[in-house]
Amino acid sequence: MATHYFTASSLDGFIATPDHSLDWLLTKNVDPDGPMGYQAFVENIGALVMGASTYEWVLRHEQGAWGYTQPTWVMTHRDLPVPDGADVRIAQGDVRAVHAEMTAAADGADLWVVGGGELAGQFADAGLLDEVWVQYAPVTLGDGAPLLPRSLDLELVDVVRNGDFLCGRYLLVR
Ligand SMILES: NC(=O)c1ccc[n+]([C@@H]2O[C@H](COP(=O)([O-])OP(=O)(O)OC[C@H]3O[C@@H](n4cnc5c(N)ncnc54)[C@H](OP(=O)(O)O)[C@@H]3O)[C@@H](O)[C@H]2O)c1
Repeated sequence: MATHYFTASSLDGFIATPDHSLDWLLTKNVDPDGPMGYQAFVENIGALVMGASTYEWVLRHEQGAWGYTQPTWVMTHRDLPVPDGADVRIAQGDVRAVHAEMTAAADGADLWVVGGGELAGQFADAGLLDEVWVQYAPVTLGDGAPLLPRSLDLELVDVVRNGDFLCGRYLLVR
């Protein structure tokens, strides 16, 4: 069982614009069934966690529908809506407690920290982040939501091109 932070990023290390747009990303070509693609990745995932901004983006993008079958923890201090039928668990505070709950729910499968970067950093701070997968889009944004605002050593273990994206998979060096 491993905990992954899997995300797309601009070349200059932002995962969204300052106003939380992903238009720069969604216009690029990627094969979800291709190398280091989303499909094979998500099949091994037993539980997800995301921050409030990411969750709100998903709700806006999916227009109220919910695309994930796995239990999903949403980190927030607010009372956010949950779509009908979605297995969404609102949580706050120390990510170690959340990680323990996710591990139990995932039943041996891997965990996915969807984002944002600060939340991935909280898992890294707690020694609970194992891998970082980044699909780099051929774009710079200049400003926005940071990829992973921490000082960490990583080991590159895999690299591949998928469509427009340069995909890297890294292990955290402890
Ligand atoms: N490029 C990609 O593939 C990709 C992937 C993921 C996300 N994104 C985008 O990147 C942006 C990320 O936004 P973001 O940087 O603001 O990060 P975020 O993690 O999505 O949201 C941050 C918010 O989550 C809540 N939060 C985080 N940790 C918490 C904790 N321990 N306890 C309680 N609440 C906690 C807080 O919200 P409150 O206090 O307000 O509740 C905090 O302001 C979004 O626009 C998202 O759509 C892009």
